[in-house]
Amino acid sequence: MPSTLALSLNPAFRVAPVRRRTFGAFVEHLGRCVYTGIYEPEHPSADEQGFRTDVLELVRELGVSSVRYPGGNFVSGYRWEDGVGPVEERPVRHDLAWHSSDPNTVGLDEFMAWARRAEVEPMYAVNLGTRGVQEALDVLEYANAPAGTHLSDQRVTNTGRPESHDIRMWCLGNEMDGPWQIGHKNAEEYARVATETARAMRMEDPDLELIACGSSNSQMPTFGAWENTVLTEAYDFVDMISAHVYYSEKDGDQASFLASADDMDHFIDAVVATADHVRAKLKREKRIMISFDEWNVWYQHRAESRPPSGDDWPVAPVLLEDIYSAMDAVVFGNLLISLLRHSDRVASASLAQLVNVIAPIMTEPGGRVWKQSTFHPFALTSKHARGEVLDVRIQAPSFDNQRFGSSTSGDAVATWDEDSGELTVFVVNRDPATQLALDADLAAFGGLELVEATTLHHQDPYAANSADAPDTVAPAENTSVGLDGGRLSGSLPAISWSMIRLARAGA
Ligand code: AHR
Repeated sequence: MPSTLALSLNPAFRVAPVRRRTFGAFVEHLGRCVYTGIYEPEHPSADEQGFRTDVLELVRELGVSSVRYPGGNFVSGYRWEDGVGPVEERPVRHDLAWHSSDPNTVGLDEFMAWARRAEVEPMYAVNLGTRGVQEALDVLEYANAPAGTHLSDQRVTNTGRPESHDIRMWCLGNEMDGPWQIGHKNAEEYARVATETARAMRMEDPDLELIACGSSNSQMPTFGAWENTVLTEAYDFVDMISAHVYYSEKDGDQASFLASADDMDHFIDAVVATADHVRAKLKREKRIMISFDEWNVWYQHRAESRPPSGDDWPVAPVLLEDIYSAMDAVVFGNLLISLLRHSDRVASASLAQLVNVIAPIMTEPGGRVWKQSTFHPFALTSKHARGEVLDVRIQAPSFDNQRFGSSTSGDAVATWDEDSGELTVFVVNRDPATQLALDADLAAFGGLELVEATTLHHQDPYAANSADAPDTVAPAENTSVGLDGGRLSGSLPAISWSMIRLARAGA
């Protein structure tokens, strides 16, 4: 008898509307994300601005909604003005964060031109590591002020366009709690500069959406206390607090890795609790939301994550070019399930990163572009999560793992679009060994019919795609899934991610 994964679904189990911003990503001046990633003027597919159109096509197919830029650790030593104006006059600088050289060929205006072509909303991070209030105001004036000021007139001259960039989401620094960060601060120091920067930025434009740095991950020794201190001071001036997390299989502990989304759930719950504690303490109405602006699988201990050293300061070195397996894609798809499930408080999220650097899209300099395994759960979830997020009650066996003790073998979330009558279920079997028999009663949705059932699975959980074999790990139709009298059934192999689409009969 196979073990059963029983899902209880009801259109009344509403969490929040699906937010497009859940499907954001991240482009940092790091490794080959920008140079030979999104930008490579010598590439045969490059457009007149030097952007790779083969990459642009995949970014659109991925369904990315917003893109955070320009860092990451990079931003904490970055001078934004190095990247604007005539390209031949721009300085080459050492990027201390990644021990690389940046020719500054791509800067704010190029990124905005690329964002328009990619049809994504920008999210811009200011440098609160080596810089402060004035430089944040300067880049805000350059980017957003209507023509007629010193810096906005420079923008008009540089871009040849009268329109402002109109960037709405601004990150107040990056991972300022991390001792690795250039200009690292303690919570009190950061709370001061973030509050003053936010206050001043709002004097320029009160409607900006401002994001304070939360903890770099939930294992930081200051996690919780950091959020409390920062929000206690900055509460009235910010809209969101950031969260970052990366997971990987460590020391062969596959089971704990497969259960990673349990940690993401706890992480989000803890940040929400802390933000709401501050809200109660300050007696405020407003709720602080979460910008989960870095999340992914990342094998940080591998050699490819080690920056160059010594006298070697290369431009666009191969860095953080993780190759993702089928199992990575299942964990990744489960992280998206966790983010969606928390749509009531996660207002924005950014997959870190977009191209080449821990990325769903890989490129060869001068050559091919290909999809990693993680491309698929992201693209399908972004495309088909519509309407309202529904909480799904789960009854399933569990599997033991070192990190959490025990985790349910299955996890799921659903979205329901009342208007179009489309129900989509995203479900993982994250059990390392046991196939699950899916059983869900969908009678509460009225007459539905099955549209599509697709499963990402590989008999070798470590199988991965490459430029030569780009479809080794890809979703395939799951023919075992059926709908009979309102009852959904099917079989989900161990270590698999699935999407099941249903629609109102006759719609
Ligand atoms: O995404 C890679 C790096 O991870 C970012 O630069 C930094 O913010 C985080 O530590």
